[in-house]
Amino acid sequence: MITWGCQMNVYDSARMTDVLRPLGYTPVTDPAAAEMIILNTCHIRDRAAEKVFSELGRLRLIKDEREAQGHKTVLAVAGCVAQAEGEQILKRAPYVDIVLGPQTYHRLPEMVAKAARAGGSVIETDFPAEQKFDFLPEAEAPQTVENVTAFLTVQEGCDKFCSFCVVPYTRGAEASRPVASVLAEARRIVASGVRELTLLGQNVNAYHGEGPDGGTWTLAQLAYALAEIPGLERIRYTTSHPRDMGDDLIAAHHDLPALMPFLHLPVQSGSDSILRAMNRGHTADDYRRLVDRLRTARPDLALSSDFIIGHPGETDADFEATMQLIRDVGFAQAFSFKYSIRPGTPAAGAPLQVKEALKDERLYALQALLREQQDAFNDSVIGDVAPVLFTGHGRKPGQMVGRSPWLQPVHVDGPADLVGTIRPVLITQRLSNSLVGNLVEECVPA
Ligand code: 5AD
Ligand code: SF4
Repeated sequence: MITWGCQMNVYDSARMTDVLRPLGYTPVTDPAAAEMIILNTCHIRDRAAEKVFSELGRLRLIKDEREAQGHKTVLAVAGCVAQAEGEQILKRAPYVDIVLGPQTYHRLPEMVAKAARAGGSVIETDFPAEQKFDFLPEAEAPQTVENVTAFLTVQEGCDKFCSFCVVPYTRGAEASRPVASVLAEARRIVASGVRELTLLGQNVNAYHGEGPDGGTWTLAQLAYALAEIPGLERIRYTTSHPRDMGDDLIAAHHDLPALMPFLHLPVQSGSDSILRAMNRGHTADDYRRLVDRLRTARPDLALSSDFIIGHPGETDADFEATMQLIRDVGFAQAFSFKYSIRPGTPAAGAPLQVKEALKDERLYALQALLREQQDAFNDSVIGDVAPVLFTGHGRKPGQMVGRSPWLQPVHVDGPADLVGTIRPVLITQRLSNSLVGNLVEECVPA
């Protein structure tokens, strides 16, 4: 299994592994030893398809070599490139056996059988009427860092149709898993030792799953129910849309200590005209007000965001508005990307595409500002005692690593049995992307 892209792909790869296990497949690390190779692909930016074709070229050699030795290799392309470029993949790489979109993973065993029987290629990129989660087997080994943190997909797809984005086309319409199935999976994961769950969804805060009472539950209701699970110490969720940040979810940040004070809330741009062109459905001031309300509910809340530089039509003034929004809000962390044309999306054909060199210049300035803010945020916790959830060994001998509530990696010298526990750590130093500290006896709130 070769996985690119977002956390949901990581989760999906684990579930494909689960669905194949009863057929006798187990994961291996060396492609030359694999009877089946699945590429789980990402289409969000850049020349995603080209990356896939060059990897396929490399894997073809392995497949041919194994074939010469009398071993078959099933080669499958899954994920968003499969969904977007299905037919094209079989045309350009006819040695691919299976092409399957993200909503069809529960049908993988059937496709494997078909490919073996027919000898030809199988393509499944429909959006089936049934939800894959109703048909996938129970998650076996959660995808975790030393079994302490795990992802759990609660919602998939998107109906927002931002002008630049392929997700509504590759992941399909927005759909939520029923509450009972999420809670059952969460209980199993926590029983296996996991202490921190990250709920996943392309629009996770638009969650509206069928509740056990027959009504529709929001993400906030789900969070309150999850917080009741003994042993589950920390809950996170990603990715959220500013438009779906409901009053009850903001209140949950005040009420639930387990809901971590770190929120990834992409804004994309700080210019109202670009936000309009992006079809985001909110203004820059809507975002500022939302952040104020969140910080009132949970004063230590830190924010992360995504920014796109050089969306078609972006002027110097638009860019400056984005810089101003960043200065006003203050981010603990952020991801920023140059706008990349995605065929088939509304922005792809827009006039006034921004020149590459100008995008580079703007991205450089924006990333410098975000870097400054990230460093300042990390510096601000030096001298504090923070509760750190330990997830594993650090790089140096005797060193352990964990996460602060604000998702910062924290290194300490300490014993291996720290893993899976939350301990108070006095933060003493900032490195470029992590913190260093010492174990102390007690958490003193900052
Ligand atoms: N170009 C650049 N960035 C994009 N993103 C999504 N589509 C594009 C695109 N066409 C970014 C957005 C989104 C993140 C996951 O990827 O910022 O929030
Ligand atoms: Fe893409 Fe916009 Fe949907 Fe996010 S909200 S997945 S950026 S269309």
